[in-house]
Amino acid sequence: MNRQPAERCAHLGFSEIARIRNRILELGPAARLHALHGGEPLFETPAFITEAAVRALREHRTRYAPSSGIPELRAAIVEKVRRKNRIPAEADHAIVTSGGLHGLLVAFLATVNPGDEVLIFSPYWTPMKDLAALAGGRLRLIPWTEARRTGFRSALERYATPHSRVLLVNTPANPTGTVLTADELREIAEFAGERDLVVISDEAYEDLTFETPHVSIASLPGMFERTLSVFTLSKSYAMTGWRVGYIVAPEPWMSALRKLVLNTINVVSTPMQWAAVAALTEGEAFIEQARAVYRQRRDRLVGGLRALGFACEPPQGTFYAFPNVERVLGPKSWDAFDLLLNRAGVSTVPGVVFGPHGEGHLRFTFSVPLETIEAAVEAMRKVL
Ligand SMILES: Cc1ncc(COP(=O)(O)O)c(C=O)c1O
Repeated sequence: MNRQPAERCAHLGFSEIARIRNRILELGPAARLHALHGGEPLFETPAFITEAAVRALREHRTRYAPSSGIPELRAAIVEKVRRKNRIPAEADHAIVTSGGLHGLLVAFLATVNPGDEVLIFSPYWTPMKDLAALAGGRLRLIPWTEARRTGFRSALERYATPHSRVLLVNTPANPTGTVLTADELREIAEFAGERDLVVISDEAYEDLTFETPHVSIASLPGMFERTLSVFTLSKSYAMTGWRVGYIVAPEPWMSALRKLVLNTINVVSTPMQWAAVAALTEGEAFIEQARAVYRQRRDRLVGGLRALGFACEPPQGTFYAFPNVERVLGPKSWDAFDLLLNRAGVSTVPGVVFGPHGEGHLRFTFSVPLETIEAAVEAMRKVL
């Protein structure tokens, strides 16, 4: 009997998430853990969104929807991206996906040919490597710090090669919390135009910004045509488990995306789509309240980390802080992770999980109650 999984599975990531989980489990149920390793919003899904899903279920709106999404949701998406993101999308430029990760997968499959390079700023959200690989491409890493120091334009010029076809832009960025400014995005856009690159824009954290406002690269002149803008409701509306996202893109990308969505999931669950209509049309007040709460927690965590001697700029977006911990905990982020977990009971994510440029860092979430932040900082203070 052939018991060999297909080769494409051999190099796909999972082991590092499992390793983090196993290390935490090894501590046993009695360990009082200060859990700062997660990536979940702090809140429950707002009641008006849940109600919209329940209403759809009660009204038997439970059959297959059109594969691209129910017309009401696609209309709400187009209205939202025109108003909020200033993306000049028309009615046929939106497709509903099963969350952001599925949106990214079909975006990679629609744009990357085997052997193509995907330019990406590093450290990067770990699944990007695997999604690119599933499409037959490979990542070409551009260090964030170098790009910020030397300018994005010149960094891109140094790292792009004749094989570079796609440029992945993630702002606000996981894990660094970086938010690209309008000027930085203009430099990136100019470069993409000159080299005829396709841009995949991952805007999962668009609503989680603090001082620097979010700008969608597809809103810049000439960029809509070459950009697949990938969104998700997961973080903005505390809907991680609902699995609803969407992509906005023009032709020829949209025809390719329609085929890929049909052949991967057929269509997103119909009641969840009705919930998404409610979120996109009535969700602004929730987003504003959430942002203020996250900001307060950010300031508390960053203050605490700095007092411990970690080098930590306040993140401009997301709900992660990504300090350099080398001076206090040594150069290896897995050792730093183990030390904080075993001695202080504080769980984080080792920076190297996000690529080689994350080494020497740890990712801490501040999407937790204030008491958890206070207790974690105090526990670290005692052992450092
Ligand atoms: C940078 C980034 N992009 C996309 C996603 C995808 O989110 P989801 O698949 O939950 O919608 C995440 C989730 O953590 C993320 O961190």
